[in-house]
Parts: sequence; C-alpha cells; structure tokens
Amino acid sequence: MAGPAMRGARAAFLDLAPKVETFRDAVIRGLTSRRKSLPAKFFYDVEGSALFDRITALPEYYPTRTEIGILERCGPEIAAVLGPGVQLVELGSGSSVKVRLLLDRLAGPAGYVGIDISREHLRAACDRLAAEYPGLEVLALCADYMAELVVPPPSTGTRRRVAFFPGSTIGNLDPEEAQGFLARWRPELAGGGMLVGVDLKKAEATLDAAYNDAAGVTAAFNLNILARINRELGGTFDLSAFAHRAFYNGAEGRIEMHLVSTRPQIVSAAGRRFSFAEGETIHTENSYKFTVPEFQRLARGAGYRPERVWTDPDGFFSLHWLVAG
Ligand code: AVI
Repeated sequence: MAGPAMRGARAAFLDLAPKVETFRDAVIRGLTSRRKSLPAKFFYDVEGSALFDRITALPEYYPTRTEIGILERCGPEIAAVLGPGVQLVELGSGSSVKVRLLLDRLAGPAGYVGIDISREHLRAACDRLAAEYPGLEVLALCADYMAELVVPPPSTGTRRRVAFFPGSTIGNLDPEEAQGFLARWRPELAGGGMLVGVDLKKAEATLDAAYNDAAGVTAAFNLNILARINRELGGTFDLSAFAHRAFYNGAEGRIEMHLVSTRPQIVSAAGRRFSFAEGETIHTENSYKFTVPEFQRLARGAGYRPERVWTDPDGFFSLHWLVAG
C-alpha cells in the first residue's frame, strides 16, 4: 500500500479528528442570541439523517430526484468533461449514492475519497463502495470539509482532482460563506475543478410545498433538533409547543425554516434556562436558491471558471462544472 488509500474490499480510513463546535456550545450560543437560531448542521444525528432520507423521497421535495435525473441523463457527457483518470473527492459523502452515477461512467478514475464528519456512516459507505468497485482506490476521510484540508493524492496516476458536492448543500451556507468555502477548496483542485449541485429559483408555490410537505416529514425533521437537545443536553422542550414554519424569503432568495413558540414558555437545556415569547422563533435553516448566472458570479468571485452547466427540462436544478485554474 503506497498511501493511506488502497484497492480492495475495504476502504482505507484516515481520521483527521475534525474539531467542530460542540452541539452544547452551539445551542447555548444560538438560544442566547437576540434572534434565536441553531446551526442547520446539527439536524443530522441518526434520527435527523433518517428523516432527511425520507424527505428526499417525498413527492414535494424535487431536488434529489431532479439531480439524479440530470446525472442519469447527462452522465456520459459530464464524465467526458471531467476527463479520464481523475481522483474524485466527494464532500459530505453520506451514503455515497449519487456518486455511483459518476463512477459508473468515469474513464479509469484514479481514486475516490469520501469526506464526512459522521465517522461510522462514512466508513460503512466507503467499505460498500470499495466492495462494489474492486479496482478503485477508496479512502474514507473523516474530516470537516468546511475547514482547510489537504487531501492525500492517489497512490498512482493523475494529480487531476475533481470535487463532487451534490444536493445543493452549498445553498445551506450564506452566499459569503459559500464563496469562502469554494475559495478554500480551489488550491486543492488546481488543474481540475468542482462539480456542484445547486437548486434554482422557481415558482414560490413549488418551493413552499417542498419545505411544507403534506406528510409532515419536514416538520418532524425541523422539530427533531429540539428532540436532540432533549436527548443529548437534558432539555425540557415540549415539542407540541413549537410549530414548524418554512417560507420563501424573496428578498434574500432563500427558504427559511423556523420553529415557532406557540406560547410563552421557559425551557431548560445544557444547564441553562431559555425563555420564549409567544410567536418567537428559532431560525434553524436557510436554503438559498440561485439563478444560473447568480451562481456563476459567486463561483467566479471564488476564483473558478464556470465552464458548463446541466439542468433538467423544467429548470428546477443545476449541476455546475467549475474549473479551478
Ligand atoms: C441538505 N439541504 C440541501 C436540504 C435543503 O433542501 O436545503 C435540507 C432540507 N431542509 C429541509 N428539507 C431539506
């Protein structure tokens, strides 16, 4: 084995022990702010990840199936643009489902690196991938892809590296954060680039429905962050006293998700007490939507050359090929 990655039935594993803000610190910071908020990244505990998987299959939630449709329809062309022998690096790889649509079409990839902070989930997904693609060098890299990161090169072959960041997760960052994130990755991708999924602006009713599904799964996903505080930080949140609210903020170009306190109340968590007025909200997520030129402008500002974009026939979702010069 030449590097940390290897070919075989199990993926190599590299733990960079990401130092991330603890849930406790984030909860105290967010709930003592003048405008209460919680970071959306804390949605994804085991329960939250399962609820998110259910969201992706909802009839109202178009992004996942639309992006998969683009990858299926345009896969051969996308693979040709990415080129032969690339090292494919997936950011926030999760269960690595969409990447198979690329791996099946790429010409002789030099390796696959899955990056995620969820250690066990990452290892299991990369092991499955290594077993399914026996000739592929697979590395599971437990790290925070939002932070500065040096990715080990493949043991053989190219230095051409391509990052894959699907799902419009970039839309959960503020535009300045998104630009900073893209800029941080650019040196790692020099000579290659990034393939990034971006949800597009569209009729408000379509957006609203996607975040207010009839089955109430998105509401459960949103409320789960309070349940998580109860489970992990000894919280006393009464989930029936908070309501899910999601709406499109046209001025900001984003869906906002909030949890609304339906009555005045005091809640304990993490050894602190937090008071809520009736109607006060906890802002839990932003999901920015872009036009194609808006996103290309953002990418240019981070030093990339937007070279290709693929969309679905309805113009709901986009996949951008950004060349890192
Ligand atoms: C992960 N992320 C891109 C999702 C989104 O659409 O912003 C998270 C989500 N929130 C509610 N539904 C889905």
